Amino acid sequence: MSTGPRRLPHASLTDTVQIVGTVVLPTLARGVIVRRPPVVAKAEKLDADRRAVELLQRMRRRYGRGPLRLRLPRRMVVLLDPTHVQRVLDQTPEPFTPASAEKRAALGHFQPHGVLISTGAERDDRRRFNEEVLDTTSPVHRSADVMVGRVQDEVDQLLTRARRDGALVWDDYSTMWDRMVRRVVLGDGAKDDEELTELLVRLRATANWAFLHPRRVRTRARFLDRLAEHVDRAEPGSLAASMAGTPTTDMTEPGQQPPQWMFAFDAAAWASFRALALLHAFPEQMARAREEIAGRDLSTPQDLSFLRACILESLRLWATTPAVLRESTERTLWEDGPMPESTSILTYAPLFHRDDENLPYANEFDPDVWLDPAKARDWPLIPFSAGPAECPGRNLVLHVSSSILAMILAGTELRLEDEDRLHPLPSVLDPFSLRFPVVG
Ligand code: HEM
Repeated sequence: MSTGPRRLPHASLTDTVQIVGTVVLPTLARGVIVRRPPVVAKAEKLDADRRAVELLQRMRRRYGRGPLRLRLPRRMVVLLDPTHVQRVLDQTPEPFTPASAEKRAALGHFQPHGVLISTGAERDDRRRFNEEVLDTTSPVHRSADVMVGRVQDEVDQLLTRARRDGALVWDDYSTMWDRMVRRVVLGDGAKDDEELTELLVRLRATANWAFLHPRRVRTRARFLDRLAEHVDRAEPGSLAASMAGTPTTDMTEPGQQPPQWMFAFDAAAWASFRALALLHAFPEQMARAREEIAGRDLSTPQDLSFLRACILESLRLWATTPAVLRESTERTLWEDGPMPESTSILTYAPLFHRDDENLPYANEFDPDVWLDPAKARDWPLIPFSAGPAECPGRNLVLHVSSSILAMILAGTELRLEDEDRLHPLPSVLDPFSLRFPVVG
């Protein structure tokens, strides 16, 4: 029997329609760049991500390890094998660029020169700039002293409001979060500039529609001008001050990097609010958290490894970047055959984060996954992506959000309303409807 050249498996039309309908469209419908709360609530009711994971597990049984080609007008594959995810993320930006056509269309609405959608020498230069400003390799940012003071001030105001109203709710948390982000990124002079955040939300709402929405040229110019005014102040202790102290070249476009930072902080608002819910639903883990913060001076930077692990668990269970996209810049070879140039490559993170066929902790809240190397194994848990395009804000955002959790736990006793929502852990958890009544 002659064996022809090997070819990557090709999903049937029916399976392609199912994957698009169950994995791709529901992810887009929730809003990739800014979330649409009613759709998120509906997704929780439908247990939408469990269906998506189960479908992809079925596809892996039917077609093997892949990458699985879809029958679409545009070349697209879905990754099903953990080693393939590692390969694609490690071999970024060449031959797998993060600046995929979809991402360029979406992010081009407000940061056409942001690092995420840059290529070649420009990407290298902007990545270097981002890493220096964000202090990527330090667990605690060099300006953390000032940042923590600003964060504590915002959390104090939030808890005063919660005690007055009897509960901590999303709207107040999100208002606190936006003020905190403006203070950390741009300094105290920006804390009341709500319009800046609103302009960015408007641009992100158009970005959700990627190719389909015309650019809002005037809104973008207004946003970038206003942002530049704050950046130019270079207020001590802010990321704007770190920018002023970081060398640039004629390729850096420093003013186009902070929009990504401001918008990326949102993911940590959802992740930390969900982590707060997890802690209140699992007393044993709450006891460990309280033990970690006991006797600490939270007005100074602290390295809170258990609370960091809780945020990471929240991101594993409910990935805020469920679709990690790459595009091949040349023809590449795989065990089962070649993949042509300009193929769009989808890693659907929940398949790997909650793969109950391979991970004993898939559907549990188990912070030790992040603390115990034996548990983590060599498996793609990728809430911050991985490889050369891994999120350069990882340490900064984990430090800020674990500090906020600690300050809340130390500040006021709360309970979680409707705790049953977390038993068993749902595949989607709508953070916008979480509510924490104040105890006593
Ligand atoms: C919980 C919060 C966050 C999560 C889950 C997160 C996750 C991610 C992920 C998954 C990517 C890679 C996307 C891809 O490969 O397509 C990324 C990229 C990036 N993130 Fe974050 N991020 C968070 C917060 C932040 C913050 C607060 C900042 C800055 C202050 C930041 C700065 C960046 C930048 C600049 C990139 C682009 C990196 C590159 O293309 O080389 N992120 N982030």
